[in-house]
Amino acid sequence: AQGNLKRPDTLKFTAVAHSTADTMSVAEGYQAEMILPLGTPLMSGIADWKDNREQSAESFEWRMGDNHDGMWFFGKKGNAYDAKASKNGLLVMNHEYVNSSELSPFGYHVISDNNAAPIYQNRRLASDVRREVNCHGVAVVEMTRRADGMGYEMVKDSKYNRRITSSTPAQLTGPVAGSDLVKTKFDPTGFQTRGINNNCGAGLSPWGTYLTTEENFLGVFARGQDAEQLSASHNYGRERYGASENFPGWEYLWHTPYAKDETIADEFVRWDMTATGADATEDYRNGFNTFGYITEIDPFDRHSAPQKRTALGRFAHENCAYAPVESGKPVVFYMGDDARGEYIYKFVSKARWSNADIGGGLKAGDKYLNEGTLYVAVFHEDGRGEWRPLVHGQNGLDATNAELPFAGQDEVLVFARAAADALGATKMDRPEWVSVSPMTGEVYVTLTNNKYRGEREDQPLSAANPRSYEARGKSRGNDNGHIIRWAEAGGDHAATRFEWDIYLFAAPSELAAENLSQLNKNNDLSSPDGLYFDPRGVLWIQTDDGAYTDTSSCMLLAALPGQVNDGAPITTSAGQQTRVGMTASDDNIKRFFVGPEGCEVTGITMTPDFKTLFINIQHPGNTWGAVAGGSTPRSATVMITREDGDVILAESFT
Ligand code: FEO
Ligand code: CA
Ligand code: CA
Ligand code: CA
Repeated sequence: AQGNLKRPDTLKFTAVAHSTADTMSVAEGYQAEMILPLGTPLMSGIADWKDNREQSAESFEWRMGDNHDGMWFFGKKGNAYDAKASKNGLLVMNHEYVNSSELSPFGYHVISDNNAAPIYQNRRLASDVRREVNCHGVAVVEMTRRADGMGYEMVKDSKYNRRITSSTPAQLTGPVAGSDLVKTKFDPTGFQTRGINNNCGAGLSPWGTYLTTEENFLGVFARGQDAEQLSASHNYGRERYGASENFPGWEYLWHTPYAKDETIADEFVRWDMTATGADATEDYRNGFNTFGYITEIDPFDRHSAPQKRTALGRFAHENCAYAPVESGKPVVFYMGDDARGEYIYKFVSKARWSNADIGGGLKAGDKYLNEGTLYVAVFHEDGRGEWRPLVHGQNGLDATNAELPFAGQDEVLVFARAAADALGATKMDRPEWVSVSPMTGEVYVTLTNNKYRGEREDQPLSAANPRSYEARGKSRGNDNGHIIRWAEAGGDHAATRFEWDIYLFAAPSELAAENLSQLNKNNDLSSPDGLYFDPRGVLWIQTDDGAYTDTSSCMLLAALPGQVNDGAPITTSAGQQTRVGMTASDDNIKRFFVGPEGCEVTGITMTPDFKTLFINIQHPGNTWGAVAGGSTPRSATVMITREDGDVILAESFT
């Protein structure tokens, strides 16, 4: 039904200028309103957020969490999902991480003990850690259209309102469920874990559930000195994911709070992957392996547990985008692993699509997401590409593999990065969001930036990652990022061959040698991250930048892309040949919104009537989002509507 919307030929709104103000700027004729900031109560009986930050950890089981990220608006009719309903819906969103210093009444507080073992030298308060654990995860919020027809308001006390946190029990499903690699003291059978964590981008499934992603879970885990040696492959796998011995995690230190008797309670020790017991059922050595998955949530079934879909691989998942479904064909999902030099993946389901599964909830998820083939992308220098399968026993993914001898498919999936290494996958400049064009079926991925490109031996220049340059007085690899895209062979998303080009090189317009897409002041950008094709074929691009923020804070742009190979061969300033797929103009890419200083603009969803666009403002600086009279900045959702109530970009569609 959405295919018959004709995409406009040009973008007709007036571009928003660069801005570094502490306010939002949106295109003329539109209004932007902050809603659902950190701490907003979803239920009566929970006090409003106060700037003293004394809200209890427990209260966050019924409040909006921190660092709003990926989201989706689920239209609702009666008690069921309706993809066409706009009056009422469930807004489901991720709370990616916490700004510790802005969340605790004490700021970022640690107790230091230099005599302790390395990973316990800085210890945090139990109350702070509990609050942080509950500020992560997902929020489900029922929204209803306001009486005047403009935008939405929360339905407080809705039976659908719900928080899922980093302590909510979750189910492991697919080939890794029950594996020795995920058995813990919490569940010695390896089918359950506690919590979802660092939920970044988001996606919808074709059957109407929410797909959240676990990205930087590494940061909340610690690994000390293992009392008992793990297998060589397990050790290698941990290190490939950043967890070497005596790794204290990032600043969170969730494994450290301790009581008077000096034993660390189970709720904290579970973030410590040090092997201390006789076997995996006595400690949390495998806790780390139970995070890093695409996780499915049915927002319409509030008693259901999140389902970690292990068949889609374990890595720093950014988002998950499905290809248009066709009856009788497999369902295909595209995903990026956001770390410098990591890979792009796709999952092809074993089950064939049937429209009868729409509305089928987690049962449909069991059908399509637990069995299938995970592939990793190789981008050849000549513009062709191929998908290589992560299947145990094929292409050397077996016990003979030197770095990590793979004993089975569970090991291939838990240590997907190591399997992809063995297959010769192409190391990319930090794959962030993926989106599929509803017009051409071509797949777009933001490669946000990579300071190691061309600077580190293991990340040499390639046609798909062709820039490395000096900026701001220093060698910075690919400082501004780009967007790559490809067309699957024969238009078949299950194909193993494709053709690619680089849709867009981001750059400050004044950085002439790197401005390969010829951006101007109305559309220049740096570090593309969030990416979303609306059903009309308009591509929305969001930024998470630090390289150009002296000139402009992070932003949202609208674009009208063409297709692969409509560009020309070029050579970058680093001497690398590649193909650029577009020449920018005010007709085909334009800045629509600029966020407040210090923020990232991320997460995007539109109501089915195209009249309301929701985006998220993450980690704003200064005091944006603070309560009246307060000073603590807060992440929040922003609701954008046209002043005349018409559809978003109406002027371009007439
Ligand atoms: Fe959570 Fe890669 O952004
Ligand atoms: Ca991101
Ligand atoms: Ca980012
Ligand atoms: Ca972020």
